Amino acid sequence: MTRQQQPHTPYDSARRIIPTQRNLHFNVPAEQIASWNNHSMHLSHFLNSLSIFFPVGERFFIDSVRNYRDAIADPDLKRAVKAFIGQEAMHGREHEQYNEALFRRVPAARAMEKMVDRLLRLVQKLPKSSQLSTTIALEHFTAILADALLNEPRILENAEPHYARLWIWHALEETEHKSVAFDVWLAVRGRGPLAYLQRSMGLIVATIIFWAIAIPFYLRILGHERQLSNARGWREILRYAFGEIGVLRKLVRPWADYFRPSFHPWDHDNQHQLARLKSLTNELERVA
Ligand SMILES: [Fe+2]
Ligand SMILES: [Fe+2]
Repeated sequence: MTRQQQPHTPYDSARRIIPTQRNLHFNVPAEQIASWNNHSMHLSHFLNSLSIFFPVGERFFIDSVRNYRDAIADPDLKRAVKAFIGQEAMHGREHEQYNEALFRRVPAARAMEKMVDRLLRLVQKLPKSSQLSTTIALEHFTAILADALLNEPRILENAEPHYARLWIWHALEETEHKSVAFDVWLAVRGRGPLAYLQRSMGLIVATIIFWAIAIPFYLRILGHERQLSNARGWREILRYAFGEIGVLRKLVRPWADYFRPSFHPWDHDNQHQLARLKSLTNELERVA
């Protein structure tokens, strides 16, 4: 039997990257929560809307992977899982502080976070494999978004440096650990047709539900700021999302790569970005 035909040959271990847990603090200035990105509420609050999902989302990812910790025999994958949990816990901690700034500015955002938490608790009533398929779908989504952020300097071009560093750090660590949950999936579910169907459905459902929640959050926050009729703000965010810069437009193809039966997160080889982790940690030491 060739390597390809083995149903449970889980992953190409030569491509395995073991992430490193970093205990870093970003101390984002709370008073700039609505204007930190290019002095634009539309840009700042778009990323703030995403941040609402992180602390509860990362806890959900940790639990989904932890469910299978004892089922993993490969010592490297065990180490990678431990570091994955450590990294997501740090992201949660830093985004909690970030979100507190948002909750002070837009009190309704606290209820939004609670709503995401309730939804994820419902998902936790599903079988463990459904929880993990949701996690690997959202990790794929996060990884391609992170890659877009790292590749497109205009997204954070005029951002307040503490906020910019936090987003870059999160994007780099999401890149560093992007295959961990997926490798756990391959180790416990393999590449059979049922597993393929389940992970593909996971991405479709997760994407629909994510945007069905995130867009109303964004609109409610802009409404609170009385920015819904700001045509200049809309032009700016549309240019970033779908127009000339087109971050979301460019995500369609990497998003769809997930449906290739042989897909693995490192098929999108952006390892070179990880070299930036060193300069980022040096920069944090300098400003501490
Ligand atoms: Fe994260
Ligand atoms: Fe992650």
